[in-house]
Amino acid sequence: MRLTHPDMRPGSPVQLSFDGREIAALEGETIAAALAAADIVAVRQARSGAPRGPFCGMGVCFDCLVTVDGRPGQRACLTKVSAGMDVRSSPTATASALEPVRPAEEIACDVLVVGAGPAGLSAARSLALAGADVVVLDERLHPGG
Ligand code: FES
Repeated sequence: MRLTHPDMRPGSPVQLSFDGREIAALEGETIAAALAAADIVAVRQARSGAPRGPFCGMGVCFDCLVTVDGRPGQRACLTKVSAGMDVRSSPTATASALEPVRPAEEIACDVLVVGAGPAGLSAARSLALAGADVVVLDERLHPGG
């Protein structure tokens, strides 16, 4: 099932494969959304063998981990689809299956804005326009909330 609204403009149709099954997807949606639209809600198994699938939908848990184009530990709820993507379920997954954290990087700035949602971006813009050297930090890959 996909939500629709007159103000929503769906992306162009693309195809991906999930465990060898062709899945219709729309550009701009996540793997989890495309799989849910295809009635696939389990993407891995717990150690007990119980099926697991997207739970938080926002990158906090690890119930949606899949292998994408050979890269294990990718979050289906955060990874956007692309044409021809090869998605594989994970038999078991743990937090250690996540991609390793990159080494810390030191960046000097006048102001550090934590959160790249609308409020954080607005504050960062105002500060930058006032001449501050601003760094915006967020746990997500993409800004905008
Ligand atoms: S559903 Fe929780 S990280 Fe994807």
